[in-house]
Amino acid sequence: MQRELWWQTGVIYQIYPRSFQDSNGDGIGDLRGITQRLSYLVELGIDAIWLTPIFPSPMADFGYDISDYTDIDPLFGGLDEFDALLAAAHAQGIKVILDLVPNHTSDEHPWFLESRASRESRKRDWYIWRDPAANGGPPNNWLSVFGGSAWEYDGASGQYYYHAFLAAQPDLNWRNPAVRSAIYEVMRFWFRRGVDGFRVDVVWHLIKDDEFRDNPPNADFRVTDPPHHRLVPLYTADRPEVHDVIAEMRRVADEFPDRVLIGEIYLPLERLVAYYGRDLGGMHLPFNFSLLGASWHASVIAGLIGEYEAALPSGGWPNWVLGNHDWPRIASRIGPDQAKVATMLLLTLRGTPTIYYGDEIAMKEVTIAPDQVRDPLEKNVRGQGLGRDGCRTPMQWDRTTHAGFSSVESWLPVGIMDHDNVVAQLCDNTSMYWLCRRLIDLRRKCPALSLGSYGSVRADENLLIFTREHGGEQLLVALNFAGEPAAASFPSGEWSGRLLISSAGDRAGESVRGSVNLRAHEGTVVEISQGGTR
Ligand code: GLC
Repeated sequence: MQRELWWQTGVIYQIYPRSFQDSNGDGIGDLRGITQRLSYLVELGIDAIWLTPIFPSPMADFGYDISDYTDIDPLFGGLDEFDALLAAAHAQGIKVILDLVPNHTSDEHPWFLESRASRESRKRDWYIWRDPAANGGPPNNWLSVFGGSAWEYDGASGQYYYHAFLAAQPDLNWRNPAVRSAIYEVMRFWFRRGVDGFRVDVVWHLIKDDEFRDNPPNADFRVTDPPHHRLVPLYTADRPEVHDVIAEMRRVADEFPDRVLIGEIYLPLERLVAYYGRDLGGMHLPFNFSLLGASWHASVIAGLIGEYEAALPSGGWPNWVLGNHDWPRIASRIGPDQAKVATMLLLTLRGTPTIYYGDEIAMKEVTIAPDQVRDPLEKNVRGQGLGRDGCRTPMQWDRTTHAGFSSVESWLPVGIMDHDNVVAQLCDNTSMYWLCRRLIDLRRKCPALSLGSYGSVRADENLLIFTREHGGEQLLVALNFAGEPAAASFPSGEWSGRLLISSAGDRAGESVRGSVNLRAHEGTVVEISQGGTR
């Protein structure tokens, strides 16, 4: 039997480096800060950290506009600080995953400067250049995710270049083998340094239609939707040929032992699972974002778990996400009480969980005043609630003025920290922090949770019950999505067991027989000793 891999049994923790820990008093987090906080992560029990981009960048999109793929932005430190972080993390058993941004570079990247220099440039074809339409306008109707046309006119050469995001983020031409080789060399550079994997940015965008056909209108578009939803991205994303380049990328990762590729892909589940690739030769983990936008009802969540489990290819390893740097925080989306239920769900489902920094202390969205807005998406598409600054604010370590994050005012405001800070939650047995830590510990101790099968038991509007099973071990997870008490039972059969953990922080060790009585907003994990579904 194949041994389990670290990225299958482990828990991943996403760090937004600008906001985790500032060590040099400039109000922006850095690599040394992360190294200083490693012991916190070890105690929490996570297995791997993923750092959003730390490479040299003009920061038009906060690091997703890279001007040098093989160095560290001075804001965060240098290669020495990176090596020190990597060594310290590895010494404590923590893997390090970096962000690979292959779809686009900064417009200040030397590749783009050379490409832009003239139509005859050797690197002209490294990016996507097109002549104007007959009327002089953009070559077609493609829209930028960050608002407006996806085409930017370059007066000097009389052509347009394509940018799926900001004009300062021109898209690379992945149909050009030289581009592919250059990015593969970037991967090898970091793999050789000891990096354990990559989260691959917008990987479903890499290939665009080679005939540059117009995208069709979206009949379901509502004015409150992000403006680019006006069109269906039929010809700009999820093209069939993308799977060939992903397979190539995967072969590069496979040159090194035990590395992981995690794909950022926002697609419906049935399309998402294609990104495991033919014979699982694609992404190891195509990020499953289905919980991010789901309406929070037990029956809906049960439905999407079932849909995902059914869609997964044989041998494809599942994964789950509750939050990231592009989405409003879970504690604000569904409220702090239900955020505990959601955390129990994340850490008891089958598949690798990714925790967004600060969600383990139930950090909420921080209100951003108009003059504090930093996110280019919010600046371009004002007032539609698309802004991502509120979920990117400094980690709330303690209640001091700068939250223990920095000695000066930070680049984004810190939130209200009465209870949502590490120090306060460490002292409170019923906190989100302790729930998270205990669940991670339980996951590590119980193969049923880290490796076991998933069995759906029951779901109605408010109650979600499922089992996890491995070897002789059978666990029952019962989650109450409502503000009233509920009794969770198997539809039939006598069973008895022992309650291992409650989201409220008490009840561990309680004997249970036939059903579990759940309080409002309570989730429990029960170890079944007799009966059950067997
Ligand atoms: C991804 C990142 C997001 C970024 C975008 C463009 O979606 O998660 O933060 O703005 O790519 O690179």
